[in-house]
Amino acid sequence: MAQTKSTPDAAPFLEVCGLHTHYGTSHVLRGIDMKIRLGETIGLLGRNGMGKTTLLRSILGLVVPSRGQIEINGQSVKGVPPHLIARKGIGYVPEGRGIFTKLSVYEHLEMAARPGARGQRDWTPERVYASFPRLAERINHNANDLSGGEQQMLSIGRALVTNPDLLILDEATEGLAPLIAKEIWSIISVIRQNGIGVIVVDKNVSAVSKLADRNLILVKGSVAFEGGSDELHASPEILRNFVGV
Ligand SMILES: Nc1ncnc2c1ncn2[C@@H]1O[C@H](COP(=O)(O)OP(=O)(O)O)[C@@H](O)[C@H]1O
Ligand SMILES: [Mg+2]
Repeated sequence: MAQTKSTPDAAPFLEVCGLHTHYGTSHVLRGIDMKIRLGETIGLLGRNGMGKTTLLRSILGLVVPSRGQIEINGQSVKGVPPHLIARKGIGYVPEGRGIFTKLSVYEHLEMAARPGARGQRDWTPERVYASFPRLAERINHNANDLSGGEQQMLSIGRALVTNPDLLILDEATEGLAPLIAKEIWSIISVIRQNGIGVIVVDKNVSAVSKLADRNLILVKGSVAFEGGSDELHASPEILRNFVGV
């Protein structure tokens, strides 16, 4: 499959400009700017409660920002409902997985499968089963019979069969055994090599920065650092102060 590595001057797939989001009177995002070109991998880092999930949920239309702009392929998605934002090419693996415990593995993937926004059909349920043989073994099991790691694989598989241009993963390795987490990291690496853009939120800074073309660190709803992984690791005080590692 062709690798669509982005060039620095390519138009962004996703552009977030001056974004503010509130929950009631609580002012959580305080003027976020972020651009992602097609095929780029962004690591989104920061301590608990800094606004990472809120930023992702704002992009997906699951919370309505109070100020600022979000554009996908140059078109504003302000006020567009989440399912239509997803159709513009965004796959979401939410914190806590969001799977339906009464549906089988097979049903999850069949229900979600569709061509991507550009008509691409690279990811089919069959390819997900080939990538995660554990899911193939459990194809007729209900999701609530799966282990945490298998549920996470299912959540990723369900996002992949929508053939996204950008895949967003929020704490996808949280609470998983190291060997299972490793499987998740290797599939994220495959996804990236296939030219799908990725935003990855994870506590494992070293795994994130190995994959990321750029890293953003959120502190209290603002971007406190943006830079490449070399730059990040060259500044241990940034990691210590803003990420806590
Ligand atoms: N549904 C909600 N209602 C009210 N406050 C929320 C809600 N979700 C998150 N928050 C608050 O918003 C802030 C940012 O949370 P979140 O975006 O989940 O951070 P992170 O993902 O970086 O841990 C926190 O102070 C959190 O308590
Ligand atoms: Mg979060």
